[in-house]
Order: sequence, then C-alpha cells, then structure tokens
Amino acid sequence: MKASDGTDEAKRRAGESASGQVENGMVVGLGTGSTAAHAIRALGEKVAAGMEIQGVPTSYQSRTLAREVGIPLCTLEAARPDIAIDGADQLQLDGALVKGGGAAHAREKIVDTSAPRCLIVADDTKLTDTLDHPIPVEVLPDAVPTVEQAIHERDGDPTVRTAQRKDGPVVTDNGNLVLDCAFGPIETPETLAASLSAIPGVVEHGLFIGVATELHIGSNDGVSIHS
Ligand code: 5RP
Repeated sequence: MKASDGTDEAKRRAGESASGQVENGMVVGLGTGSTAAHAIRALGEKVAAGMEIQGVPTSYQSRTLAREVGIPLCTLEAARPDIAIDGADQLQLDGALVKGGGAAHAREKIVDTSAPRCLIVADDTKLTDTLDHPIPVEVLPDAVPTVEQAIHERDGDPTVRTAQRKDGPVVTDNGNLVLDCAFGPIETPETLAASLSAIPGVVEHGLFIGVATELHIGSNDGVSIHS
C-alpha cells in the first residue's frame, strides 16, 4: 500500500470505505471534517439510490452537508445511532485518537459513544505510534483562566484557538471557547483523558479513548481496515 501525502483522494477512500458498512434502516452518526464529509456524500448517494437511513449530525457543518445531499436527520431523543462515522486529527492503531480540529469534539464524543460501532476515517498521514497532537479542550468562557492554570499544572501549554480571520476566538456550536493544549508525546492517553475531564469548566476534550471500534485508513492506492 502506497503511503499518501494526506491528499483528499486518500480521505475519500477512507470515507467511502466506512460508508460501505451502512445498511438499510440504520441510524448513522455523521462526523465532522473533510474526511467524514466524504462518507456523508457517499451516504447521500445511497439515499438517492433508495436506501432508507437517518443521520444524527455532530455539528452545524455536518448537518448542513447532510441536508444538501438529502440524508433525513433525527436527534438522539428520537433514536440512537447503530453506527457512527467520524474523522480524527491523529490516531494510534490501538484506537486512541485526538479529535477536535473542527471544534466539534463535544458533540462528536456524545454521538460517537452512543453508537455500538464507531468507524474512524482518516488518511494514513494521521497514524502515529505515540499521540503528540495538541489536545483541543472546549471550555466555558468564564473558566478560561482557571482551566489554563490547570493545564499548566499538568505540564501542558494551552493556546486559545482563534478564527482564521483573527478577529476573535473560535466559538463552538455550544457557545464555548477552545484551548489547544500541547503536552508533547502522550505516553498514557487514558490517564491524561481522565485528568482533563476532572478540571472544572472543561466541557469536553478531544482525547477519544476506547471509542473507535474500526479504523478505515486511506492511502494513495487503497484502504486498510483495523478493528
Ligand atoms: C472535528 C474533528 C475532525 O474529525 C478532525 O479535525 C479531522 O478533520 P479532517 O478529516 O478534515 O482532517 O475532530 O472536530
């Protein structure tokens, strides 16, 4: 299998591979990001061809795309997903991963963990032996100074995420802010995950441990599936 350079083709292969696991009648968690978007488009084609599914979106972005491609939507009040398909910013082959590049990780974690099967789609440049990507931490706005202090006490380096236009911070779909927290190589992700969850004012962090049941990894000439 040829290693990719993170191209959209490798992402498309991963997204389409995971969408192939969706069967008629299923409720599907719809992840966020450019790789999950390929899965959503592929599901839209299945709906156009007559398949009956419902989607539970994880963000404004995935809701908008699902509507565009004709996937009927529902909420977690109405139904629980049979399967979720979502992207990742960095991942280990044991399934530990970092999410939140799109600031959607709070709702993504709710939807992804509500499904018995969570398929993670990514191109092969995101694979690593040891996670070292900064961890996105969604924080209540009033709690930013105290959470920053708590991150420093955990040997992390927090940065408030700002919008590309640089006219203010990124605000999540839930009205909160995001701290991108660099910890260097993370030897025990489950320990850090529990420690971050314990900080008052943290809404959710982007370490997903024990959530993924299948990884669909796209490369330049194929997809490898790990479960
Ligand atoms: C959004 C996410 C995305 O799934 C993650 O950032 C990957 O995005 P992409 O597929 O565009 O690289 O976690 O919060």
